[in-house]
Amino acid sequence: MNRKLRMGMVGGGREAFIGAVHRMAAGLDGLIELSAGAFSSDPQKSQNSGKDLFLPAERVYDNYRELFEKERVRPDRMDFVSIVTPNHTHFDIAMAALDAGFPVMCEKPMTFNLEQAQMLRDKVSKSGLLFGLTHNYTGYPMVKEARALVASNSFGKIRKVVVEYPQGWLSTPLETSGQKQASWRTDPGRAGASCCVGDIGTHAANLAEYITGSTIESVCADVTAFVPNRQLDDDANVLLRFANGAHGVLHASQICVDEENGLNIRVYGEHGGLWWRQEEPNSLHLRWADRPRETLRTGANYTHLSEAARAATRLPAGHPEGFIEAFANLYRNYARTLMAQLEGKTPSTLETDFPGVQAGVRGMAFIQSVIRSSDSDRKWTDVPHSGSETRSEQ
Ligand code: NAI
Repeated sequence: MNRKLRMGMVGGGREAFIGAVHRMAAGLDGLIELSAGAFSSDPQKSQNSGKDLFLPAERVYDNYRELFEKERVRPDRMDFVSIVTPNHTHFDIAMAALDAGFPVMCEKPMTFNLEQAQMLRDKVSKSGLLFGLTHNYTGYPMVKEARALVASNSFGKIRKVVVEYPQGWLSTPLETSGQKQASWRTDPGRAGASCCVGDIGTHAANLAEYITGSTIESVCADVTAFVPNRQLDDDANVLLRFANGAHGVLHASQICVDEENGLNIRVYGEHGGLWWRQEEPNSLHLRWADRPRETLRTGANYTHLSEAARAATRLPAGHPEGFIEAFANLYRNYARTLMAQLEGKTPSTLETDFPGVQAGVRGMAFIQSVIRSSDSDRKWTDVPHSGSETRSEQ
C-alpha cells in the first residue's frame, strides 16, 4: 500500500481512559492515522474531542451510526474502526460497523454476554472482515518469548499455571463519588455479569491461554463483592483445568490495597518453568530443574530470542518498552494483516499474531462460567467451547 490506513474511533473522548492509549498505539509505527470518529455518547463532547485531535469538522460525527453511514460513501473512507466504549455498547457498534463493511478493532470484554459474542463471531465469519480484540498483554516481547518457549517444549509437559491480576483501585466505594470508570464497571447494566472477572480476570485468562497455547476447559470459582452495596464482584479466586492437562489458579482482584496492575504469571512444566510480571515486562525469568535460574531480557540486539519476540521489540536492550509499545504490537500486526488483505496478499503468521473474535468468545465464556460456578454448589463448571481454534487465530 502506498498510504497509511485510515482509522475511525468510537468512544475515547475527553476524560475517557483507554481511547487515548489506542490512538498512541495505533500511531506508533506510522502505519495508521486517525481520520474520523464519534468520540462520545454526548454529541457536543464528540465534537469537542474531535477538535482536540485536530480532525476536520466534517469527519467528527454525533454518533456511531452517522459515522458509518457517512464514512462508507466517502472516497477517502476510513479503513477500519476502533471501538473503545464501555462493555454494553460493543456488540451493537461492532455489528453496525460490519454491516457497513468496516473491519473492527474492539476492546475487551468483547460483548455484554456470551450469546452476543457467539452472534458476533458468526457475523465476523460471514462478513469475511478482519476483527481484532485488544487483549494487549499478549503484545509484550517477553510474553511472546514465553509462548515460544512453551511451544518448543523447553519445559516439557506443562503441569501448573498460576496467574494473578491484583489491583487496589476499587477497595473503596469509588463509584459513589461519580468516578466515570468505576461507575460503569460496577453497574450490571453496563459492565455485564461481572466487574472484576470481566475487567481484568479475562486479561489473566487470555494471557494464560496465549502462553500455554492451551484453553481453559473448566473452572471452580469463588467470586465476591467485598465493598458494601457494590452490585458486582470486586474479587475472584478461580481454580482452572486446561485442555492440555495442566491445572491452575487464577486470582483477580480490585480490592488488594496498594496493588497497581500486578498482572503476573508463573508456568511450571516437567523440567522447568517461567515467571513474567507486567510491572517489569522486559524481563522473563526461567527456572530449571537441573541448573540455576536465568533471566532473559528484551532487546532488539538479542538475536537468541524467538522470531516473535524480536518482531515485537523496537529498541536495543536497556531502553524500557512498555504498555504503549505492547498495545502498538497488536495494532501493527492488525494493520499489516489488513494491508495484506486489501492488496490481495496472504499475511504471514507473525502478522496474524493478534487476538481475534475467538479469543473474545472464550473471554465471554470464561466470565459466564466463573460466575455460574461461584453461584453454584456443584462448583466445577465447564467452559463452553468457542468453535474452531488454531494457534494463529488466538
Ligand atoms: P471510559 O468510561 O473512560 O471511556 C468510554 C468512552 O466511550 C467515553 O468517551 C464515552 O463517552 C464513550 N462512549 C460511551 N458510549 C458511547 C457511544 N454509544 N458512542 C460513542 N462513544 C461512547 O472507559 P474506559 O476505561 O476507557 O473503557 C472502555 C473500554 O475499554 C471498556 O470495554 C474496557 O473494558 C476497556 N479497557 C481495556 C483496557 C485494556 O487494557 N485493554 C484498559 C481499560 C479499559
